[in-house]
Amino acid sequence: MKNFINIADVDKKELRKIIDHAKSQKEKRSKLRKSAIDSEKPLAGKTLVMIFEKPSTRTRLSFELAMKQLGGELLVLNPKESHYGSGDESIHDTAKVLSQYGDIVMMRTQRHKHFLEFSKYLDIPIINGLTNLSHPCQVMSDIMTFEELKGPIQNKKIAWLGDGNNIVYSLIESAVKFNFELAIACPKKFRPEEKIIKWAKKNKAKIWITKDPFEAANLADCVMTDKWISMGDRVNEKKKKKLLKPYQVNKKIMKLAKEKAIFMHCLPASRGEEVTNEVMDGKQSVVWLEALNRIHVQKSIIQWCLR
Ligand code: CP
Ligand code: NVA
Repeated sequence: MKNFINIADVDKKELRKIIDHAKSQKEKRSKLRKSAIDSEKPLAGKTLVMIFEKPSTRTRLSFELAMKQLGGELLVLNPKESHYGSGDESIHDTAKVLSQYGDIVMMRTQRHKHFLEFSKYLDIPIINGLTNLSHPCQVMSDIMTFEELKGPIQNKKIAWLGDGNNIVYSLIESAVKFNFELAIACPKKFRPEEKIIKWAKKNKAKIWITKDPFEAANLADCVMTDKWISMGDRVNEKKKKKLLKPYQVNKKIMKLAKEKAIFMHCLPASRGEEVTNEVMDGKQSVVWLEALNRIHVQKSIIQWCLR
């Protein structure tokens, strides 16, 4: 049984296969309508169960469309309306019950530890749809998007400006697996976890961290950022935003990157904070394609787990 929890857990050849499969499947259905089922109906008779402990627009809708296109079914469990969420059924028992109803689970949790505990009791595969620690599906979509527009990501320079959060955690793991250069610019207080940096360095990642946003953005092939305050972030928001202000992606930053560099943001965005309207709506921005590719990469991840 294969779970998709963190990018670091998956062999690099397998990750490459997931991306390439997503690209070819997307191309194959380019003339079909958004909700049309793929001709082979690869997941006919299979059900994905989705659980969201936090809000979601893209993850929820892209997984729904993914299952629809694959010819499968969907069940959605709202923790607030179930025994699991109210605490009167153990995680163990809910996981065992879900294993009777579905073939695969996609879960978004508050705490990564909670996700791992749930996955331990499940008898079917599980996909991480975001935890406080990581967001692997998003970063897989970003890699697919980069390659669709700019060719192989290997040896390209990706600049991350802003908070050292769950997206950058998955991005660091990807830098090791896909062999790209990752320059992270952030204030000392909001650096990514030391443990993941050490792991990446041990695995010969080409990553470096600086306090200087201009240095990171210099000649980058892609500039990325995310909200400064993530869901469930328990911080003094005013203080955090003040420290992160110099890391805003604006026209000046994009000018330092390569002329044909792209701008990425997983969304939702706080326009005017981590990114200006000018960049978000500008020619270099590929944020809508990133959202679209969530469908295609997740179709490939679901099939990989069930294979
Ligand atoms: N990028 C992303 O995961 O968005 P949602 O929170 O809307 O799912
Ligand atoms: N870092 C953000 C990502 C949202 C998709 C959060 O965790 O809220």
